[in-house]
Amino acid sequence: MSKKNSETPQQESVAVPRRQFLKAGLAGTAAAATGTAAAATGTLAAATGALAAGLGIPDWSRQLGASVDDAPYGKPSEYESTVVRRSVEWLTATREASINFTPLYALEGIVTPNGICFERHHGGAADVDPEQHRLMIHGMVDRPLLFTMEDLLRLPRVSKFFFLECAANGGMEWRNAQLNGVQFTHGMIHCVQYTGVPLKLLLEEAGISTKAKWLMVEGGDAAGMNRSIPIAKALDDCMVAFAMNGERLRTEQGYPLRLVVPGFEGNMWVKWLRRIEVGDESWQAREETSKYTDLMPDGRARRFTWEMDCKSVITSPCPENPLVSMGPNVISGLAWSGRGAVKRVDVSLDGGKNWTEARLEGPVLTKCMTRFYLDGWEWNGEPVYLQSRAIDETGYVQPQMAELQKVRGVNSIYHNNAIQTWHVTKTGEVENVRLA
Ligand code: MTE
Ligand code: CO
Repeated sequence: MSKKNSETPQQESVAVPRRQFLKAGLAGTAAAATGTAAAATGTLAAATGALAAGLGIPDWSRQLGASVDDAPYGKPSEYESTVVRRSVEWLTATREASINFTPLYALEGIVTPNGICFERHHGGAADVDPEQHRLMIHGMVDRPLLFTMEDLLRLPRVSKFFFLECAANGGMEWRNAQLNGVQFTHGMIHCVQYTGVPLKLLLEEAGISTKAKWLMVEGGDAAGMNRSIPIAKALDDCMVAFAMNGERLRTEQGYPLRLVVPGFEGNMWVKWLRRIEVGDESWQAREETSKYTDLMPDGRARRFTWEMDCKSVITSPCPENPLVSMGPNVISGLAWSGRGAVKRVDVSLDGGKNWTEARLEGPVLTKCMTRFYLDGWEWNGEPVYLQSRAIDETGYVQPQMAELQKVRGVNSIYHNNAIQTWHVTKTGEVENVRLA
């Protein structure tokens, strides 16, 4: 007998509850079918023994585990070490002005853990000392202001979940299916809970002129990245955030301060935020003229395309999550819209001919990722062309790529929100394909 000590594994406690045993599909064996209670009990005992043998007593049950202080800041299990941000070598010339991708295939629910939120820097991730950091608000205001972090932390704050999607997400997929993994086709996105001060409050404190129409927001990184934000958006739902998912921002996400611009392209969410200038015209910054514009078929460019269009993708199965067996399988994915809440998601198994409404798993929040499921899907081993199609509360329907190309051509880099097709082959492998 083992000691009845809560720190020692109970070696006897391997009995399998009968309900669980029945669920395991071992009931109805020949012996049980004889109808005699004794025979059935004997079979049960033997089968339970077999299960217990399968359960075994592994090494980790025979020794003490790590002590409480082994990891003062915890990390994921070593068995999950492949779940990391990844980049595409050929995409950018340098690592400082580059991007990596969120491992969407490994996520559950709607929250992205801080350590695997994709990163996009134009001049590397700035290492900012919060004590020395300042936020200046000036321009067309009654009272120019300079805030320390301490000042900001004394103001009323809010906590809200929002997705952030880089406008270039899916940019490599405009002409054809190119990258074989949902991490790379859709991973320039993350969704976290931000905590910060409403921008409206800071602007009211400074007293903005009635003639003001635009803000210029600037980062404190080497790139000094800046963008123009329309006043209406600034006074609506923008936040000056200092925390994500319950802890201070990560360095790579703009520590100690970033702008949150819900539903708008990621480029406008200035990190290491240091300056807000109030004006009556847009700034025509590099990032809103030579970049983050969309070249149309007629040679002209769409500009100030801020709102991220409604979009979705199936994250399981996907190239990183192949099917391993026939029978019941989970189809799951993520949907989002920069214009509000996701209203509905449909799933197709035949490349968009027939659609079935998916189940939305709450919470369903505005300008936030929404998790969807197609429950109880039985895979019969035949090839499948999987697609998902999201519809938001404005009634906007996510388009097929052919429809999008009709309007936008093939020269765009940004704002690809087309329906994704995954081809599930007979072996269960999944590949990124483009249907005609
Ligand atoms: N802010 C500053 N100061 N510098 C930058 O390079 N990159 C922008 C934006 N804010 C950037 C920035 C771009 S293009 C995107 S998509 C988002 O930050 C990415 O945010 P993330 O790194 O938290 O994912
Ligand atoms: Co971006």
